[in-house]
Amino acid sequence: MRIDIISAVPALLESPLSHSILKRAQNKGSVSLHVHDLREYGKGNYRQIDDTQYGGGAGMVIMPEPLAKMIDKLSESRTYDEIIFLTPDGETLKQNTSNQLSLTQNLLLVCGHYKGIDERIRQKYITKEISIGDYVLTGGELPACILIDSIVRLIPGVINDETSALSDSFQDGLLSPPAYTRPQNWRGMEVPEVLTSGNFKQIENWRTDQAQERTKSKRPDLLEKK
Ligand code: ADE
Repeated sequence: MRIDIISAVPALLESPLSHSILKRAQNKGSVSLHVHDLREYGKGNYRQIDDTQYGGGAGMVIMPEPLAKMIDKLSESRTYDEIIFLTPDGETLKQNTSNQLSLTQNLLLVCGHYKGIDERIRQKYITKEISIGDYVLTGGELPACILIDSIVRLIPGVINDETSALSDSFQDGLLSPPAYTRPQNWRGMEVPEVLTSGNFKQIENWRTDQAQERTKSKRPDLLEKK
């Protein structure tokens, strides 16, 4: 899988994309991530990429031409399954969307900044618009990192224990059950006995019950959807 990311502030993407699981996934060849600096296609000596809004109002808007040039250039070498714009007015990211996107070959992510991007780019190029939640961030870079992380960890072979990603919270519409590690008694607090019983059937039943309970108390809306 290949993911290209267009950004006006590429430095914001560097650290999240080059550590931990995302680093390992790239080293293994499961995914290749390519960050592109929009300023490369900026206008004039100052490499201008944004301008004031028509009609007035605070905030700058990313101009259409630098984005169009970059998207056209990248599209010459491959066909994108989706060209995704990260924006607070997009569809809210859910596990199911990440599942579907993890099955694609080529994705292009466009990060907005300031007041957003010229509407005509959305009309001409963007095939999917994703929000990571009902709050406004300064740009699409952090949402892009979140989207990439949620997709890449689902690619077979990226997480060591293959079943781990499938048993995540949300995969079966339930939150994950509680987890414990050593020591068995920590400051007087014991690990539930069933987990040290060695009886795997009982452990599985306990985890299912706990997942149901946790979902019922913390996220009853998920059970309603089920
Ligand atoms: N850009 C700014 N805020 C955002 C959000 N909540 N989701 C996606 N992109 C954004």
